[in-house]
Amino acid sequence: MPKDVMRSLQLNDQGQLRHFLSLDNLPGALLTEILDTADSFLEVGARAVKKVPLLRGKTVCNVFFENSTRTRTTFELAAQRLSADVISLNVSTSSTSKGETLFDTLRNLEAMAADMFVVRHSDSGAAHFIAEHVCPNVAIINGGDGRHAHPTQGMLDMLTIRRHKGQFENLSVAIVGDILHSRVARSNMLALKALGCPDIRVIGPKTLLPVGVEQYGVRVYNDLSEGLKDVDVVIMLRLQRERMQGGLLPSEGEFYRLYGLTEQRLRHAKPDAIVMHPGPINRGVEIESAVADGPQSVILNQVTYGIAIRMAVLSMAMSGQTAQRQMNQDAEEHA
Ligand code: CP
Repeated sequence: MPKDVMRSLQLNDQGQLRHFLSLDNLPGALLTEILDTADSFLEVGARAVKKVPLLRGKTVCNVFFENSTRTRTTFELAAQRLSADVISLNVSTSSTSKGETLFDTLRNLEAMAADMFVVRHSDSGAAHFIAEHVCPNVAIINGGDGRHAHPTQGMLDMLTIRRHKGQFENLSVAIVGDILHSRVARSNMLALKALGCPDIRVIGPKTLLPVGVEQYGVRVYNDLSEGLKDVDVVIMLRLQRERMQGGLLPSEGEFYRLYGLTEQRLRHAKPDAIVMHPGPINRGVEIESAVADGPQSVILNQVTYGIAIRMAVLSMAMSGQTAQRQMNQDAEEHA
């Protein structure tokens, strides 16, 4: 989809968020607004009563066609903390398993008057398809589509970096591992660029780097120690076996030997570098336990920040949809 079409699909006539499908072509100012809004929601999670009434009377429907631990549960918690009613469709026990199409499943959910859908699907572009063809007045939030995009993961990663490093302007950030199959890598590269990070590095074997990855404004390294030199942030990625076709790697042992993040390798980064990972982590494949559980790891902080980011995205998209409906109504009345 052309970038300007994507942008107009995601934003209303006043430039407010309406759907959240991808970070492609979203302005840095909007990403900063999401981070600022999420910052204000972090405090809600520390209260005795973890609720604000922003989405009272609204219904959020989680429709996950692919497995998830972190994204699904943190979207549920986020919607609950905003006082929405929340339905989570378990696709493995739904009528999808009896042959119902994605289109028909969503039409039925639409008929139940849901206001927002959070969708995860193994096909790249599934969330866009729904936003374009199925639900004109319902906000669609992408919870991860194929290898294309995972925009809320990208934003929770940015919140983690900002909270630990304060800004993006002077940072060196390395993204390590299976870049080729990773929707997280793509969302992170776009977000870091939009927020002004000057040194974004991708590190991995040639077989796991997309052709033309330099177009994202990143520097490419095939050697882990060289790529980690003096970085402030290390983002590790797992091998996405479910999306690999053919033998892209000799073995997991060989991958760990060359690209696994060990305490020894981490010494190439700055002494105060943080280590991130979107999860699920595979210990002894891309990361050593001593690093995953060590003092530089902020992997579990990422999960906590994910609730605040999802609260921000849900509330902002709901406001953008409501504002667009009002604008359409005003235009009709004056026509
Ligand atoms: N990071 C992430 O998307 O994790 P889940 O697959 O558990 O949601």
